[in-house]
Amino acid sequence: MTSPASIIRCSGCGHVADQDDPYPFRCPRAGTDDTDHVMTRVLGPEVTRFPSGHEDNPFLRYRALMHSYHVAMAHGMADAGYRDLVASLDDSVADVDGHGFRATPLFRSRDLSQALGFSGDGGVWVKDETGNVSGSHKGRHLMGVLIHLVVMESCGLLDPADRRDLAIASCGNAALAAAVVARAGGWPLSVFVPPEADPAVLRRLRELADVVICPREPGVLGDPAYLRLREKLDEGALPFTAQGNENGLAVEGGETLGYELVTDLASSPDHGDLDHLIIQVGGGALASSCLQALGKAAGLGALGRLPRVHTVQTFGAHPLERAYHRVRALLPDEPGPDAVRQAMAKAAAHRSAFMQPWEEEPKSVATGILDDETYDWRADVEGMLLTGGQPLVVSEDLLVEANQLAVATTGIPVDPTGSAGLAGLLQLRRSGQIGDHDRAAVLFTGIQR
Ligand SMILES: Cc1ncc(COP(=O)(O)O)c(C=O)c1O
Repeated sequence: MTSPASIIRCSGCGHVADQDDPYPFRCPRAGTDDTDHVMTRVLGPEVTRFPSGHEDNPFLRYRALMHSYHVAMAHGMADAGYRDLVASLDDSVADVDGHGFRATPLFRSRDLSQALGFSGDGGVWVKDETGNVSGSHKGRHLMGVLIHLVVMESCGLLDPADRRDLAIASCGNAALAAAVVARAGGWPLSVFVPPEADPAVLRRLRELADVVICPREPGVLGDPAYLRLREKLDEGALPFTAQGNENGLAVEGGETLGYELVTDLASSPDHGDLDHLIIQVGGGALASSCLQALGKAAGLGALGRLPRVHTVQTFGAHPLERAYHRVRALLPDEPGPDAVRQAMAKAAAHRSAFMQPWEEEPKSVATGILDDETYDWRADVEGMLLTGGQPLVVSEDLLVEANQLAVATTGIPVDPTGSAGLAGLLQLRRSGQIGDHDRAAVLFTGIQR
């Protein structure tokens, strides 16, 4: 057997997972010290080309960038065998959810561009994830993990007759996506949810997974659903979450979104390079995935230059913005990439001094980005510092205004979390930091339910 063309390495301590480790999800040293441990897929020098395939399914189109593909090839699986496996899983997703994974649309919205006062050569590009599996981008993270698990079974590294439970704590888009994808793969899933979860979401979750309601217990600090998840993981369940710290491979699946952006920008005369990409942040995996995808594509020559990547949080909770400023304070006025990487490494070795859970219970109309911690903060802060982006914090009024504008100008039934990036864009336009000729993209990530 040859070595795979990628490794899974902890960005905090450098630990490299064994190449046949079927569960290279979480660093074994995580939680033992104050270092930020996130397992990260690192492509080897063998990977020299950005995939130019035209498959509609992103997990097929970009398979040559996936760790599971490299493990499969190293174990002698044929390319056709890998494609069949992904296509068959995708058919199962379609059986559960009505359709499988397809590259989602990217378009310049004329009406939105006009409403924001852009000139003809600038404007707003929208990537619409509301028609994706289970109505958000979250399934991308989890499909990548499912494909990895099934490839491990096909390579004889896991026993299909002895599948461990998957587990997630969420009551929103991530839980729905996890439930659809796990059911499609035939894997048992436990979902830990708070009592106030939306009844319609709960109904659907109960059809697909084992749902555990987790009320607060007097005197016990912390999110009860997350605490129950951790217990379940300690008992041996696998993290089927959309957060890099629990499952680093979740970020890899999310990268398909960024790869699609690159492919579309390169292939349409209307597109060209972007000046700005504005991303709403909860746990931070979405922004981390996009940043890593764009960085990889630029490294492979598929993207002329990186856009400035800005993040958006609400006044309700903005732990990422707080961490950004703490790292920024370590740097000179115009830091070069080496200085940024050094400062980040220092910050990641002292996590608790930079990323602290938000103190008050946050509230916002953008309910999907209220995480009290930004788990993937390291990649997000580093990405902003390297691209010249900013950590934006927006008001409730602006979130509502952005959502109304998004729906009215594009006709897309996006929810306020899904259009929160547009609130950030409005803020940057009004403060004059994005000019009339600039090209800015936002991600409409979740559908109204
Ligand atoms: C619709 C939507 N957009 C964006 C996000 C933010 O993603 P992340 O938690 O990876 O930062 C979420 C998270 O739940 C979401 O539901």
